[in-house]
Amino acid sequence: MLKDNRICRFDREGAEPHSAGQAGEYWNPMPPGGAPYPHRMRQEIYEQPDTILQTLGEWIDDLDSLIGAIGDAGTGTRLRRIHIVGCGTSYHAGLIGRYIIEKFVHIPVSVDMASEFRQMEPVLTRGTLLIAISQSGETVDTLTAQRQAKAQGTPVVAICNAVGSSSSREADAVLYTRAGEELGVTSTKTFTAQIAAICLLGIALGAHRRKICDVELETLKSFLAGLPSLTRRVLGKDHEIGEIAQTLTGAHGILYLGEGISYPVALEGALKMKEIAYIHAVGCPAGEIKYGPLALVEPGSPVVALAPISSMSGKILSTVADVKARGAHVIALTDAPAALRDIADVVVTLPPTHPAFLPFVSAIPLQLLAYHVAVLKGHNVDRPRNLIKSITGE
Ligand code: AGP
Repeated sequence: MLKDNRICRFDREGAEPHSAGQAGEYWNPMPPGGAPYPHRMRQEIYEQPDTILQTLGEWIDDLDSLIGAIGDAGTGTRLRRIHIVGCGTSYHAGLIGRYIIEKFVHIPVSVDMASEFRQMEPVLTRGTLLIAISQSGETVDTLTAQRQAKAQGTPVVAICNAVGSSSSREADAVLYTRAGEELGVTSTKTFTAQIAAICLLGIALGAHRRKICDVELETLKSFLAGLPSLTRRVLGKDHEIGEIAQTLTGAHGILYLGEGISYPVALEGALKMKEIAYIHAVGCPAGEIKYGPLALVEPGSPVVALAPISSMSGKILSTVADVKARGAHVIALTDAPAALRDIADVVVTLPPTHPAFLPFVSAIPLQLLAYHVAVLKGHNVDRPRNLIKSITGE
């Protein structure tokens, strides 16, 4: 009964209920006819304001129902901790999820790469919920981790894009991302949709557990509702980022710096650059660089620094000054350009937002940066070498 109930409850109001037999189907938010984009990846980057809207639209005015559905998964008020698993980009979304859920729900969250979770003997105590994040819902490592947790009696919520996929069928509850079909091998729009889903979940749980007061809840909901227009503004930086990309085509290595919630975004930016531009790239927390990665920096080394004003009290400014002192070429992405203008070589000014929603603002420029570098290098951005869209086999 729970399964049938779950499938209906998690479908969009007014939409046809999906059955388990529709594996691999997607809900496509784009108008028919296609768009004049030279690459699928570029189109998918540009779809993000819509795909975020569609993912939020599912629940933003109905957070109680979201909690009801998670309650059916056996967690509701008994929830004591959350364990998140995913691979690649979905893992990075999980790392962001930790910041969001701990901030809003005040319960401990651990995050593992699903491939590593499988190798461990994870201690999943009573009151633990496993969240399995996967665009395809068919990634073998994530599925195996999810099955291991189920075998221990741990309830599983899948955050998934593919309706009727194995992950969504086997989970106790599913929170669908409504990103539409992602054809590019590189995940872009599904990443921000996953973060949108996690924000919904974190805010819904936080409100339900009275960790978020009514006033804060309304503020957060209005920030969420503003995400489509916010991300549209960020896409307006495309041309500027394309010009910066021209300075990176000859790079042999790029260091991405972030801190707090921006650190996983730095990891994701580095992954994009590796995947399609074939440039070695490393994401590093700003506060960690002195413990080793600083040795990589030499005159001319490109460093991409995520420096939102909300983290200015942290290490990012001093770290940018440190790498600059060693001759690095610093590209800073910030909503506080005045603070960076004297220490960075290039400053990209991004719109401000709530600190919890910074990844929406900073991830898109990094997707565009990798895209432009790869195109300038003549790579097939939709079909990067050695990679396939879904790793379904061992
Ligand atoms: C990232 O651009 C890749 N597409 C890859 O890391 C991907 O996130 C990973 O294979 C996991 O896929 P999933 O979300 O379908 O499970």
